[in-house]
Amino acid sequence: MSNRMSNVLNKQSITRNRVWRSIFRHGYPHDEETQSRVMADNLLLHIHPVKVKKHSLKITYTWGLGFISFFLFVVLAATGAWLMFFYVPSVDRAYADIQALETTVAFGILIRSMHRWAAHLMVLTVFLHLCRVFYTGSYKHPREFNWVVGVMLWVVTLLLSFTGYLLPWDQLSYWAVTVSTNIAGSFPFIGEKIRILMLGGAEAGQEALVRFYALHIAVLPLVMTVLIGVHFWRIRKDGGLSSKAEQEEEHLETAK
Ligand code: HEM
Repeated sequence: MSNRMSNVLNKQSITRNRVWRSIFRHGYPHDEETQSRVMADNLLLHIHPVKVKKHSLKITYTWGLGFISFFLFVVLAATGAWLMFFYVPSVDRAYADIQALETTVAFGILIRSMHRWAAHLMVLTVFLHLCRVFYTGSYKHPREFNWVVGVMLWVVTLLLSFTGYLLPWDQLSYWAVTVSTNIAGSFPFIGEKIRILMLGGAEAGQEALVRFYALHIAVLPLVMTVLIGVHFWRIRKDGGLSSKAEQEEEHLETAK
Protein backbone atom coordinates (compact mmCIF):
# COMPACT_ATOMS: atom_id res chain seq x y z
CA MET A 1 0.00 0.00 0.00
CA SER A 2 1.37 3.42 -0.94
CA ASN A 3 2.26 5.91 1.81
CA ARG A 4 -0.42 8.37 0.64
CA MET A 5 -3.12 5.72 0.77
CA SER A 6 -2.20 4.62 4.29
CA ASN A 7 -2.20 8.29 5.43
CA VAL A 8 -5.75 8.74 4.17
CA LEU A 9 -6.87 5.52 5.88
CA ASN A 10 -5.22 6.62 9.15
CA LYS A 11 -7.07 9.97 9.04
CA GLN A 12 -10.34 8.22 8.32
CA SER A 13 -9.84 5.90 11.29
CA ILE A 14 -9.72 9.02 13.48
CA THR A 15 -12.84 10.69 12.08
CA ARG A 16 -14.96 7.66 11.17
CA ASN A 17 -15.77 6.16 14.52
CA ARG A 18 -18.55 6.57 17.07
CA VAL A 19 -16.57 8.65 19.58
CA TRP A 20 -15.55 11.27 16.97
CA ARG A 21 -19.06 11.30 15.48
CA SER A 22 -20.65 11.77 18.91
CA ILE A 23 -18.70 15.03 19.31
CA PHE A 24 -18.46 16.34 15.71
CA ARG A 25 -21.58 15.56 13.72
CA HIS A 26 -20.23 16.65 10.36
CA GLY A 27 -17.15 16.19 8.16
CA TYR A 28 -14.62 18.82 7.17
CA PRO A 29 -16.52 21.97 6.00
CA HIS A 30 -15.66 21.81 2.27
CA ASP A 31 -19.08 22.86 1.00
CA GLU A 32 -21.68 25.49 2.01
CA GLU A 33 -24.04 22.96 3.60
CA THR A 34 -21.38 21.55 5.96
CA GLN A 35 -20.17 25.09 6.68
CA SER A 36 -23.65 26.07 7.90
CA ARG A 37 -23.89 22.83 9.92
CA VAL A 38 -20.58 23.67 11.64
CA MET A 39 -22.02 27.08 12.62
CA ALA A 40 -25.35 25.65 13.81
CA ASP A 41 -23.94 22.64 15.74
CA ASN A 42 -21.19 24.37 17.69
CA LEU A 43 -22.06 25.93 21.06
CA LEU A 44 -19.81 28.96 20.58
CA LEU A 45 -20.16 29.42 16.82
CA HIS A 46 -23.96 29.18 16.87
CA ILE A 47 -24.09 32.56 18.66
CA HIS A 48 -23.25 34.03 15.25
CA PRO A 49 -25.87 33.57 12.52
CA VAL A 50 -25.08 31.20 9.64
CA LYS A 51 -25.55 34.01 7.14
CA VAL A 52 -24.84 37.69 7.83
CA LYS A 53 -26.23 40.46 5.65
CA LYS A 54 -23.48 42.59 4.14
CA HIS A 55 -24.98 45.93 5.25
CA SER A 56 -24.92 44.91 8.95
CA LEU A 57 -21.11 44.66 8.78
CA LYS A 58 -20.84 48.36 7.95
CA ILE A 59 -19.39 49.92 11.09
CA THR A 60 -20.91 53.36 10.41
CA TYR A 61 -24.44 51.90 10.65
CA THR A 62 -24.26 50.57 14.24
CA TRP A 63 -20.93 52.08 15.39
CA GLY A 64 -20.62 48.77 17.28
CA LEU A 65 -22.37 50.46 20.22
CA GLY A 66 -24.51 47.45 21.21
CA PHE A 67 -21.48 45.19 21.09
CA ILE A 68 -19.35 47.68 23.09
CA SER A 69 -22.14 47.88 25.73
CA PHE A 70 -22.14 44.08 25.98
CA PHE A 71 -18.34 43.99 26.24
CA LEU A 72 -18.45 46.56 29.07
CA PHE A 73 -21.07 44.46 30.88
CA VAL A 74 -18.72 41.44 30.70
CA VAL A 75 -15.84 43.59 32.05
CA LEU A 76 -18.12 44.80 34.88
CA ALA A 77 -19.19 41.26 35.78
CA ALA A 78 -15.57 40.01 35.86
CA THR A 79 -14.11 42.97 37.82
CA GLY A 80 -17.19 43.06 40.08
CA ALA A 81 -16.76 39.36 40.99
CA TRP A 82 -13.11 40.11 41.86
CA LEU A 83 -14.10 43.13 44.03
CA MET A 84 -16.51 40.93 45.99
CA PHE A 85 -13.52 39.07 47.48
CA PHE A 86 -12.42 42.27 49.25
CA TYR A 87 -15.64 44.09 50.13
CA VAL A 88 -18.08 43.45 52.98
CA PRO A 89 -21.41 45.35 52.82
CA SER A 90 -21.33 46.48 56.45
CA VAL A 91 -21.49 50.12 57.59
CA ASP A 92 -18.53 49.41 59.91
CA ARG A 93 -16.33 47.93 57.18
CA ALA A 94 -17.39 49.14 53.72
CA TYR A 95 -15.44 52.43 53.70
CA ALA A 96 -12.30 50.80 55.12
CA ASP A 97 -12.54 47.96 52.57
CA ILE A 98 -12.55 50.48 49.72
CA GLN A 99 -9.55 52.27 51.30
CA ALA A 100 -7.73 48.93 51.50
CA LEU A 101 -8.49 48.30 47.82
CA GLU A 102 -6.89 51.65 47.01
CA THR A 103 -3.81 51.11 49.18
CA THR A 104 -2.94 47.54 50.18
CA VAL A 105 -4.75 45.02 47.95
CA ALA A 106 -2.64 43.89 44.97
CA PHE A 107 -4.06 45.36 41.73
CA GLY A 108 -6.86 46.89 43.88
CA ILE A 109 -6.72 50.37 42.29
CA LEU A 110 -6.54 48.89 38.80
CA ILE A 111 -9.53 46.58 39.15
CA ARG A 112 -11.64 49.11 41.06
CA SER A 113 -10.89 51.80 38.45
CA MET A 114 -11.71 49.37 35.62
CA HIS A 115 -15.06 48.69 37.32
CA ARG A 116 -15.84 52.40 37.77
CA TRP A 117 -14.76 53.43 34.28
CA ALA A 118 -16.62 50.56 32.62
CA ALA A 119 -19.75 51.53 34.61
CA HIS A 120 -19.58 55.19 33.49
CA LEU A 121 -18.81 54.18 29.91
CA MET A 122 -21.62 51.64 29.80
CA VAL A 123 -24.21 54.30 30.71
CA LEU A 124 -22.82 56.39 27.85
CA THR A 125 -22.61 53.62 25.22
CA VAL A 126 -26.07 52.18 26.02
CA PHE A 127 -27.53 55.68 25.69
CA LEU A 128 -25.71 56.28 22.38
CA HIS A 129 -26.87 52.83 21.16
CA LEU A 130 -30.45 53.82 22.03
CA CYS A 131 -29.98 57.04 20.02
CA ARG A 132 -28.55 55.11 17.03
CA VAL A 133 -31.50 52.68 17.07
CA PHE A 134 -33.90 55.65 17.22
CA TYR A 135 -32.06 57.62 14.52
CA THR A 136 -32.05 54.67 12.06
CA GLY A 137 -35.75 53.99 12.82
CA SER A 138 -34.87 50.45 13.92
CA TYR A 139 -37.62 50.50 16.58
CA LYS A 140 -40.24 50.09 13.83
CA HIS A 141 -41.95 46.85 12.76
CA PRO A 142 -40.88 44.05 13.32
CA ARG A 143 -38.51 45.29 16.05
CA GLU A 144 -41.02 46.97 18.40
CA PHE A 145 -40.68 44.24 21.02
CA ASN A 146 -36.87 44.44 20.97
CA TRP A 147 -37.12 48.20 21.44
CA VAL A 148 -39.18 47.58 24.59
CA VAL A 149 -36.58 45.02 25.79
CA GLY A 150 -33.97 47.71 25.05
CA VAL A 151 -35.77 50.28 27.17
CA MET A 152 -35.79 47.76 30.04
CA LEU A 153 -32.03 47.25 29.52
CA TRP A 154 -31.54 51.02 29.75
CA VAL A 155 -33.48 51.17 33.04
CA VAL A 156 -31.52 48.21 34.48
CA THR A 157 -28.23 49.87 33.41
CA LEU A 158 -29.22 53.03 35.34
CA LEU A 159 -30.35 51.01 38.37
CA LEU A 160 -27.03 49.11 38.44
CA SER A 161 -25.21 52.42 38.35
CA PHE A 162 -27.41 53.88 41.10
CA THR A 163 -27.16 50.88 43.46
CA GLY A 164 -23.37 50.72 42.99
CA TYR A 165 -23.03 54.36 43.99
CA LEU A 166 -23.90 53.71 47.67
CA LEU A 167 -21.46 50.84 48.17
CA PRO A 168 -18.24 52.85 48.93
CA TRP A 169 -20.18 54.31 51.92
CA ASP A 170 -18.35 57.64 51.75
CA GLN A 171 -19.87 61.13 52.14
CA LEU A 172 -20.60 61.42 48.42
CA SER A 173 -22.48 58.13 48.17
CA TYR A 174 -24.30 58.56 51.49
CA TRP A 175 -25.68 62.00 50.58
CA ALA A 176 -26.36 61.13 46.94
CA VAL A 177 -28.57 58.24 48.04
CA THR A 178 -30.16 60.30 50.82
CA VAL A 179 -31.06 63.05 48.32
CA SER A 180 -32.30 60.67 45.60
CA THR A 181 -34.45 58.63 47.99
CA ASN A 182 -35.87 61.92 49.35
CA ILE A 183 -36.80 62.84 45.78
CA ALA A 184 -38.62 59.48 45.45
CA GLY A 185 -40.23 60.25 48.84
CA SER A 186 -41.79 63.44 47.50
CA PHE A 187 -43.96 61.46 45.06
CA PRO A 188 -47.64 62.09 45.91
CA PHE A 189 -49.44 59.58 48.22
CA ILE A 190 -47.06 56.58 47.95
CA GLY A 191 -43.75 58.53 47.99
CA GLU A 192 -42.90 57.85 51.65
CA LYS A 193 -43.68 54.14 51.26
CA ILE A 194 -41.33 53.94 48.24
CA ARG A 195 -38.59 55.73 50.20
CA ILE A 196 -38.87 53.33 53.15
CA LEU A 197 -38.94 50.37 50.77
CA MET A 198 -35.75 51.57 49.07
CA LEU A 199 -33.88 52.25 52.32
CA GLY A 200 -35.31 49.42 54.44
CA GLY A 201 -35.78 52.04 57.23
CA ALA A 202 -36.27 55.75 57.91
CA GLU A 203 -32.77 56.75 56.74
CA ALA A 204 -29.75 55.38 54.84
CA GLY A 205 -28.08 52.83 57.15
CA GLN A 206 -27.14 49.15 57.32
CA GLU A 207 -30.48 47.97 55.88
CA ALA A 208 -30.13 50.27 52.88
CA LEU A 209 -26.53 49.14 52.28
CA VAL A 210 -27.54 45.44 52.27
CA ARG A 211 -30.51 46.13 49.97
CA PHE A 212 -28.40 48.06 47.49
CA TYR A 213 -25.66 45.41 47.64
CA ALA A 214 -28.04 42.48 47.00
CA LEU A 215 -29.64 44.34 44.09
CA HIS A 216 -26.24 45.36 42.71
CA ILE A 217 -24.45 42.01 42.80
CA ALA A 218 -27.29 39.49 42.32
CA VAL A 219 -30.77 40.65 41.30
CA LEU A 220 -29.96 43.30 38.68
CA PRO A 221 -27.05 41.45 36.97
CA LEU A 222 -29.33 38.40 36.67
CA VAL A 223 -32.16 40.48 35.16
CA MET A 224 -29.62 42.13 32.83
CA THR A 225 -28.22 38.74 31.69
CA VAL A 226 -31.70 37.39 30.91
CA LEU A 227 -32.72 40.59 29.08
CA ILE A 228 -29.50 40.64 27.01
CA GLY A 229 -30.18 36.99 26.08
CA VAL A 230 -33.71 37.87 24.91
CA HIS A 231 -32.37 41.00 23.13
CA PHE A 232 -29.80 39.00 21.10
CA TRP A 233 -32.28 36.21 20.38
CA ARG A 234 -34.81 38.74 19.07
CA ILE A 235 -32.22 40.38 16.76
CA ARG A 236 -31.82 36.95 15.08
CA LYS A 237 -35.57 36.26 14.99
CA ASP A 238 -36.30 39.73 13.55
CA GLY A 239 -34.13 38.80 10.54
CA GLY A 240 -30.81 40.34 11.64
CA LEU A 241 -30.17 44.07 11.75
CA SER A 242 -32.46 46.58 10.09
CA SER A 243 -31.41 48.20 6.82
CA LYS A 244 -32.45 51.22 4.79
CA ALA A 245 -33.57 48.97 1.89
CA GLU A 246 -35.79 46.90 4.22
CA GLN A 247 -37.38 50.05 5.65
CA GLU A 248 -38.10 51.50 2.20
CA GLU A 249 -39.80 48.20 1.25
CA GLU A 250 -41.86 48.32 4.46
CA HIS A 251 -42.78 51.95 3.72
CA LEU A 252 -44.03 51.00 0.23
CA GLU A 253 -46.03 48.05 1.66
CA THR A 254 -47.88 50.29 4.16
CA ALA A 255 -48.46 52.98 1.50
CA LYS A 256 -50.27 50.43 -0.76
C1 HEM B 1 -27.20 46.52 28.01
C2 HEM B 1 -27.68 47.21 27.02
C3 HEM B 1 -27.71 46.76 25.57
C4 HEM B 1 -26.92 45.85 24.90
C5 HEM B 1 -25.77 45.02 25.45
C6 HEM B 1 -27.40 45.82 23.52
C7 HEM B 1 -26.84 45.05 22.50
C8 HEM B 1 -27.21 45.13 21.17
C9 HEM B 1 -26.45 44.62 20.06
C10 HEM B 1 -25.10 43.89 20.16
C11 HEM B 1 -27.14 44.89 18.93
C12 HEM B 1 -26.67 44.59 17.50
C13 HEM B 1 -26.37 45.89 16.73
C14 HEM B 1 -25.55 46.94 17.38
O1 HEM B 1 -24.47 46.66 17.92
O2 HEM B 1 -25.99 48.12 17.36
C15 HEM B 1 -28.39 45.54 19.32
C16 HEM B 1 -29.41 45.92 18.46
C17 HEM B 1 -30.59 46.53 18.85
N1 HEM B 1 -30.83 47.11 20.08
FE1 HEM B 1 -29.64 46.92 21.71
N2 HEM B 1 -28.48 46.68 23.40
C18 HEM B 1 -28.70 47.29 24.63
C19 HEM B 1 -29.62 48.26 24.90
C20 HEM B 1 -30.60 48.71 24.02
C21 HEM B 1 -31.49 49.83 24.23
C22 HEM B 1 -31.43 50.75 25.46
C23 HEM B 1 -32.35 49.88 23.15
C24 HEM B 1 -33.49 50.82 22.88
C25 HEM B 1 -34.27 51.33 23.78
C26 HEM B 1 -31.98 48.80 22.25
C27 HEM B 1 -32.63 48.45 21.09
C28 HEM B 1 -32.09 47.69 20.06
C29 HEM B 1 -32.72 47.39 18.79
C30 HEM B 1 -34.15 47.81 18.35
C31 HEM B 1 -31.79 46.67 18.03
C32 HEM B 1 -31.95 46.20 16.58
C33 HEM B 1 -31.34 47.32 15.74
C34 HEM B 1 -31.39 47.11 14.25
O3 HEM B 1 -31.96 46.12 13.81
O4 HEM B 1 -30.83 47.99 13.56
N3 HEM B 1 -30.89 48.13 22.79
N4 HEM B 1 -28.38 45.71 20.69
